[in-house]
Amino acid sequence: MKKFIYAVMFVALVSLVAGCGAAATPAPEKPAEGEAKPAAGDLTAGVAIYKFDDTFMTAVRNNISAAAEGKIKVDIVDSQNAQPTQNEQVDLFISKKMSVLAINSVDRTAASVMIDKAKAANIPMVFFNREPQPEDMKKWDKVYYVGAKAEESGTMQGTILVNYWKAHPEADKNKDGKIQYIMLKGEPGHQDAELRTEFSIKAVTDAGIQVEKLAEDTAMWDRVKGQEKMAAFLGSQGDKIEAVLANNDDMALGAIEALKAAGYFTGDKYMPVVSVDATAPALEALKAKTLLGTVLNDAKNQGKATLMVAYALAQGQAPSKDNTGYDIVGGQYVWVPYKMVTLDNIKDAE
Ligand code: GAL
Ligand code: CA
Repeated sequence: MKKFIYAVMFVALVSLVAGCGAAATPAPEKPAEGEAKPAAGDLTAGVAIYKFDDTFMTAVRNNISAAAEGKIKVDIVDSQNAQPTQNEQVDLFISKKMSVLAINSVDRTAASVMIDKAKAANIPMVFFNREPQPEDMKKWDKVYYVGAKAEESGTMQGTILVNYWKAHPEADKNKDGKIQYIMLKGEPGHQDAELRTEFSIKAVTDAGIQVEKLAEDTAMWDRVKGQEKMAAFLGSQGDKIEAVLANNDDMALGAIEALKAAGYFTGDKYMPVVSVDATAPALEALKAKTLLGTVLNDAKNQGKATLMVAYALAQGQAPSKDNTGYDIVGGQYVWVPYKMVTLDNIKDAE
């Protein structure tokens, strides 16, 4: 028994000594007084994208990389649509002492936890495309957001449909004066999904046109899911459908495939489809006259603004119009404007 107790005491002592050793690890050396700030080449940005397999975010990502050239080293990781994965990536960026973080959160309500971690390590951060809740943004003055006003894109989408409806009386197939429509929603809870859904229809009713929603479902921003959902709606609603609104181009392009399979876009069988993003394949669909209109979600400026805000922060500066080229609204926000795109002004989007 005694032997056993000694053994336990020995183990306890060893772990105590080991513990002390860890605690005694010297803190990273502070730069000596008057020492120069890190050279531009030493600046690093840890960038996490909610998932690489997203058409619009791929464009934003490429624009972040392009804007970073010659300024700051970017380490861009794929969070694979899993918040726990992203949390680990943020932990790793922090342990690597990145100069700044740029985060496209998987779940925007998870911003709070990531802000706490970055703040504790004093690493400034920029969120983009997925807007944290206002109360989370207030947690720290070194947190920024770069994005676009979702309601603006919704209003523009609705306006495209209004213009078409007014110019084409035959669009009211059952002559009841109302637009019978299908709504393909992005990811529920995403500001762009919720607000585009709401404001696109608001623009239509504000123009004095009545609507009847035949069906609404999420297709998670995804082309294949958009096609599947639309095929199902064609099965259940058939000829009753007079318009299709999609929260993004990929879902609209999927819906167009389903419509084509049902005989649309040949002869005089037509369906107005409107969406948001103005990706390259969507512009092709505009030219092919299968997509009625879209809204330019400016990946170039969103990517560039994200990088410029991050770059200013990495240098220890407060982002301003002078050092980023973008207006900083309310001390923490950069809003990149949307633009309506139809066949008439397709050049502006190209
Ligand atoms: C939206 C965009 C969608 C999707 C989403 C990802 O702004 O319209 O296509 O990329 O962001 O968060
Ligand atoms: Ca009607």
